[in-house]
Amino acid sequence: MVKHLLKDFLSSPRGAMGFIALLMLAAEFLIMVMIEIVLKPVFGPHISVVFWEFLDPLLLIVIVTPFIYVLNVRPLERQKIILQQQFSELSITAVTFESREGVMVTDADNNILRVNHSFSEITGYTNREAIGKTPGILHSGRHNKEFYRNMWQILARDRFWCGEVWNRKKNGDIYPEWLAITAVLGAEGQVTNYVGIFSDISDRKAGEEQLRKLTAHIQTAREEEKTRIAREIHDDLGGTLTALKMDVYRLAGKLSANEQTAPLLERVESMTQLIDNAVGVTRRVISDLHPTILDDLGLVAALEWQCDQFRKRTGIACEVICADDKDDEKKLEKAPAINLFRIFQEALTNVAQHSGATRVRVEFHQDDEEINLSISDNGRGLPEGHVIAQTSYGLRGMRERVAQLDGQIRFDSPPGGGLRVAVTLPPAAGNNEERKI
Ligand SMILES: Nc1ncnc2c1ncn2[C@@H]1O[C@H](COP(=O)(O)OP(=O)(O)OP(=O)(O)O)[C@@H](O)[C@H]1O
Ligand SMILES: [Mg+2]
Repeated sequence: MVKHLLKDFLSSPRGAMGFIALLMLAAEFLIMVMIEIVLKPVFGPHISVVFWEFLDPLLLIVIVTPFIYVLNVRPLERQKIILQQQFSELSITAVTFESREGVMVTDADNNILRVNHSFSEITGYTNREAIGKTPGILHSGRHNKEFYRNMWQILARDRFWCGEVWNRKKNGDIYPEWLAITAVLGAEGQVTNYVGIFSDISDRKAGEEQLRKLTAHIQTAREEEKTRIAREIHDDLGGTLTALKMDVYRLAGKLSANEQTAPLLERVESMTQLIDNAVGVTRRVISDLHPTILDDLGLVAALEWQCDQFRKRTGIACEVICADDKDDEKKLEKAPAINLFRIFQEALTNVAQHSGATRVRVEFHQDDEEINLSISDNGRGLPEGHVIAQTSYGLRGMRERVAQLDGQIRFDSPPGGGLRVAVTLPPAAGNNEERKI
């Protein structure tokens, strides 16, 4: 305690000067004693008075200077360095505060204390208009209470939150922003302030929307092109093959079986076989291009048919479970039906390629609230923290298709392990003309 008080006293300018004065008195006393008692008897008083007069201040300087340096100059130098550091930190803070991003500082009760120039530019509220209000002045009404409750929960837990927020400007315009909120903690660990930094991401969102529309357009065009090719093959090649097969049948009928015609009949038989093969391949290509069963019998029938094909081709067990009445299911719009079917096809391809699964379970359910499709396998599943590679288009394509229909998609693990692709679409998915297929 006393040690601390003494240290504080000595490190203050007044204390340091007092100590130095005391030190000078003591040193002067010692020097006089040393000169009178030690030096004069040794060197004799006959040495010039000027010498003793000169020696006295010299010794005083030699003794006191290190103390002056330690007690006064060194703390001053240290203080100068600290001040320089603080100044440069303040300069950085000032430049950061007046950055291109909007910045808003609130107290612990979320009352705005300060906003920067960009805040005013983006929102239209001046510093004076914003101070004292809460960030609630910017609420657009697009987020529900749950959204803000969740945000505050994360802030309380992590002292940080970031995400996309739709806010309202002073002039009423609603705009999207990317907002990061950081809690500032006091000495006791309590929140003293919140700092919100945000940027207007309207341009980025508009770009994303354009890209989404373009993707939707490309997918629609692809599906239409596939349907057209399937029709051409069906009408043209299919018709030709059917006519060929009828001719071959007729020819076989005309050739009465005897020893001479036996080799010819054998040839005709093998031609029939080849034509049957060609008809089978043509049917498969047509179905792959556009599953007509989807148009004729609806999604569940198409899922069951595809499941069957998959089981035969890969040997992996596949079952479709649909709790709904099939008549209700037929009412599904064309866009969600083809998109769900394409997602299902890609999910099955992935199961065969990557999962090592022995079983696939497909569940479909639709009611007035939503349309649900899930495809679960019992394979190895996605690794922890899996990120979709730039060169992988399957999962990315599924996401795009679902986003176009304002739905949601999850890639998680069913209870027994493996991967589950779960899609939820709103009941009116696909009614929008822009988002056809
Ligand atoms: N059912 C599954 N089980 C295990 N891993 C899977 C499964 N489905 C996908 N994956 C993993 O996710 C990755 C991405 O799949 P995605 O379908 O996007 O791409 P891909 O199949 O590799 O290529 P493509 O663009 O041809 O579809 C796969 O490479 C695989 O590692
Ligand atoms: Mg794939």
